[in-house]
Amino acid sequence: MTVIKINAITVPAGGGDELARRFASRVGAVDGQEGFEGFELLRPTDGRHQWLVVTRWRDEDAFQAWATSPAFAHGHAGADRPAPDGAPVSVSSELWSYEVAGGSPTGGG
Ligand code: HEM
Repeated sequence: MTVIKINAITVPAGGGDELARRFASRVGAVDGQEGFEGFELLRPTDGRHQWLVVTRWRDEDAFQAWATSPAFAHGHAGADRPAPDGAPVSVSSELWSYEVAGGSPTGGG
């Protein structure tokens, strides 16, 4: 069953654009990872400071394999360097784990 792993990144006040830029030029090392089903980078639109990287995986093992792989390290090699203005890109991050417990069929309408 698909598992959903969310990295919730808290950005500094006024930050976020640099995070978006980094994802726009991301390495892409995750794209060919066994069991990877896709991700979205979600920008907050209600004034909060947590951006979400919502990733989907075939199962827990597939996620754990990526999270401990050279591909993860490669995809994050420059992730903790400061923005050009010297500010940190993220001040903290949390990993959240979910599974789909209900919803509507996809592709409707
Ligand atoms: C330890 C805290 C983490 C921070 C601060 C962080 C931050 C970032 C940043 C800034 C990037 C853009 C690429 C770069 O600048 O190198 C990135 C890439 C990415 N992050 Fe994280 N990340 C963290 C952990 C995680 C975790 C736990 C996940 C999964 C739930 C995740 C999912 C991703 C994905 C899918 C990419 C794209 C990688 C690729 O293109 O290969 N990150 N992350």
